[in-house]
Amino acid sequence: MPQAGREERLRRYWDKHAGSYDKQMGFYDRHLFAGSRDWVCSKARGQVLEVAIGTGRNLVHYPDEVRLTGVEWSAAMLDIARHRAGQLGREVDLRQGDAQALEFPGACFDAVVCTFSLCAIPDDRKAVAEMARVLRPGGLLLLADHVEASPWWARAAQALIEVVSVPVGGEHFRRRPIRHVQALGFTVEEQDRFKLGIVEQLAARKPATT
Ligand SMILES: C[S@@+](CC[C@H](N)C(=O)[O-])C[C@H]1O[C@@H](n2cnc3c(N)ncnc32)[C@H](O)[C@@H]1O
Repeated sequence: MPQAGREERLRRYWDKHAGSYDKQMGFYDRHLFAGSRDWVCSKARGQVLEVAIGTGRNLVHYPDEVRLTGVEWSAAMLDIARHRAGQLGREVDLRQGDAQALEFPGACFDAVVCTFSLCAIPDDRKAVAEMARVLRPGGLLLLADHVEASPWWARAAQALIEVVSVPVGGEHFRRRPIRHVQALGFTVEEQDRFKLGIVEQLAARKPATT
């Protein structure tokens, strides 16, 4: 299938699963990703972009003074994020868009956040490059995701799961976004990896001059 058709199918996949996402993700948030959303969002300051914001599960974790923009390619996920923002009384500029081709000019955000989405975005390297482009020099990139495990047997299990998860839902289990971040010259200021190395969260600074 050509790339555009494959991406359209994945976008529809997320539209279809939007209604059940919060229940499903709630389980993983409690048992696997505990604390990651807070770890990432509490470090954000100023003008902040959240990429692939989904249903807005991070909204409650941002400091009040953050001015937030969220991008997401599934209209159904975005509808839930809008509803959640309304319930929380949080003003957010929510837009439908593609993480691999952000509509913003360069260097316009103080921080960029992306949680549990680089596993699902078709081209994670392109998405990280776009995040880097829209960050101002000296800005902070804040990521959390499930990544390639440390023990060989867990990596083997992830490879098996991917045989189904990648074609069905575009879900990757063996990615390492930190490598793209380092390749772009960012300084990783804080990093934490836990649960057999499966969960990784990091705060990386864009060079002050490019
Ligand atoms: C596992 S969910 C994570 C949602 C949210 N970030 C969270 O932490 O709960 C992955 C999200 O990435 C979105 N996504 C995947 N590819 C995308 C792309 N190219 N552009 C924008 N959003 C994308 C999906 O629609 C979905 O909402």
